Amino acid sequence: MKKERLRIIVEENKEAFSQKGARLFEQKALESVEKEGHFMVALSGGTTPREMHKSLASRASIPWQGVHIFWGDERCVPVSDPSSNYGTAWEDFLGKVPLPPEQIHPMPAHMAPAQGALSYERELRQIFNLRQREFPLLDLAFLGLGKDGHTASLFPGQDSLEERVRFVVAVKGGDPDVDRLTLTFPVINRAREVIIMVSGREKSGVVQAVIEAGEEKFPASRIRPASGGLTWLLDREAASTLAEETLSSY
Ligand code: 6PG
Repeated sequence: MKKERLRIIVEENKEAFSQKGARLFEQKALESVEKEGHFMVALSGGTTPREMHKSLASRASIPWQGVHIFWGDERCVPVSDPSSNYGTAWEDFLGKVPLPPEQIHPMPAHMAPAQGALSYERELRQIFNLRQREFPLLDLAFLGLGKDGHTASLFPGQDSLEERVRFVVAVKGGDPDVDRLTLTFPVINRAREVIIMVSGREKSGVVQAVIEAGEEKFPASRIRPASGGLTWLLDREAASTLAEETLSSY
């Protein structure tokens, strides 16, 4: 991946980290709606983005009328389950902002996983008005990183990592170890911008292994936007084992 499209942002603490993530969302939303009339953004799941999501609810300059919300992955659990990515996003901000409900596109976690994957792919084709061999063009995709180097629900050693055609696949794994739906690399790597948000010392080792060594065994090492930008947004703890030279060169 070309160096000029990669950047590393390190914020002092979790609060500043979350505020930076919300500011990046806001900036990209304003740019995209101004330029394209819409902002197609995929949220990541897990706990890392929750403070950022809460902060979005109070950012009045976000042009919500033009925003479409997707997910990078979802656990196949009821919306009321605390591990539901849609459920927590609704609680944190979606239920509090003037976003037209028809512009919120949760993954169909209630369906049988294989059917849910096909259904979400159909929905993406329809929303992005795609011809047969085209892929969705997200303006921004947020991702997280697991200690095992997974991102979205693309887990080490799984067949999903080799998917080149489908937009969405059904997998099982992670914590909680449940059925999940996940976007595939062909969709994620076509995004105009990918932001991988990582916080906490316990992930500093995998952050270093992915950023500095690009170890292929870690799925996150395969996040290489074809023509878009990749931003690593880290807090000081998650960045704590990165070499000074790495930090100063991006
Ligand atoms: C999910 C994810 C996943 C998550 C990482 C980090 O739904 O599980 O999207 O990729 O981002 O596992 O999770 P935490 O933020 O909870 O550490």
